[in-house]
Amino acid sequence: MPLMRGGRTPARSDERLRFLFAVARDPMLILEAGPVLSECIIVDSNRKALELFGFRRGTLMGKPLSFLEVAGQAPAETPGDRESVQEALHRRADGQVLTLERHAQPIQSGDRDFLLVAFHDVTTARLLEKSLLRVQQMDNVGVLSGTLVHDFRNLLATILANAELALSETPHPDDPRERIAEILHSARRATELIERVLPADGGEEQRLRPLDLDSVVADALALIRPSLADNIELRHDLADRGLTIAGDATQIRQIVMNLVINAAEAIAPSRGTIRVSTAPIAASRINFQESPLPVTDPGDHWVCLDVSDTGCGIDAATRSRIFEPLFTTKPTGTGLGLTAVMYAVRRHGGAILLHSAPGKGATFRVLFPLLQT
Ligand SMILES: Nc1ncnc2c1ncn2[C@@H]1O[C@H](COP(=O)(O)OP(=O)(O)OP(=O)(O)O)[C@@H](O)[C@H]1O
Ligand SMILES: [Mg+2]
Repeated sequence: MPLMRGGRTPARSDERLRFLFAVARDPMLILEAGPVLSECIIVDSNRKALELFGFRRGTLMGKPLSFLEVAGQAPAETPGDRESVQEALHRRADGQVLTLERHAQPIQSGDRDFLLVAFHDVTTARLLEKSLLRVQQMDNVGVLSGTLVHDFRNLLATILANAELALSETPHPDDPRERIAEILHSARRATELIERVLPADGGEEQRLRPLDLDSVVADALALIRPSLADNIELRHDLADRGLTIAGDATQIRQIVMNLVINAAEAIAPSRGTIRVSTAPIAASRINFQESPLPVTDPGDHWVCLDVSDTGCGIDAATRSRIFEPLFTTKPTGTGLGLTAVMYAVRRHGGAILLHSAPGKGATFRVLFPLLQT
């Protein structure tokens, strides 16, 4: 296809452009010009673009640019005859999704108009930005809840101490006893709730030390089992073969409790099953990109802690916000359960993955680096 841009020596500038296009370090396509970039037809591709998208030249030629876009994700604007830069989700031949900035520039050849589109891969940059934003959001909540929790604990301690005293000092088992028992019940429940968000030492973190994941998980399940309603069956399938991780037992218990409570709430009021399992897993079988937490330089050996339920499942809208602090779909939820989980997982250098579909239950997979002993 001949190329030129209104130069006085068409044949030479044509050749020059052709050469530059072929050897450019940026991936580039040439499209037939049209009002909407996504609908413009691909007429040429340089080698870098073939590498970037992973398609053969023959496959791309004659296709609209939308062939390379993720369906429904094309930017709405039209380039008109001006230069334009857009950011859009594209797909590779192997299914991988790429975030690409694309810069379209009108060029002419004879009396025909074309667009030269150069691509710049910003996938990693956008992923990092997203993770950073999440981490910042979590830190904000961490600071906020740290002071709140401190006051909250002091208040509860006073309520509990007084109620217990009053109970022991009330001579007759009349009305007041019932009321006081209720105060005790609520205050205890409130203490449990707050323990799920931050550890008992006022938010101070214990050092990570080698621990056996299975025994900590078993402890957490023993704690939580009595509070589950009869309609829920809690099963476990622990690896039981010395899965040692560098961990903080309090935080691991929080992870298990928050995930199991969420699972139970997703099942209620029907009947259902929660399965908690642990197993060793190779890094090659983990898609770290799916985790909302960045994992830099993952080692080869990992341990997974899975919490699966047969509950209501999670739709796309909830899924896209599920790890945001304070995000909840429950009338009395705080939206801090999964934030606490994320906070703890991040501290352990771990990752978290979610598999779910509406009506099909959910599986949260928490991954920790295995400590080689
Ligand atoms: N296993 C699950 N099944 C279905 N939805 C879930 C599951 N786990 C979490 N969710 C969804 O994610 C949201 C956020 O969960 P998170 O634990 O952070 O807060 P919450 O459960 O709403 O409130 P809290 O933990 O304070 O009780 C929930 O409101 C729910 O919509
Ligand atoms: Mg919760």
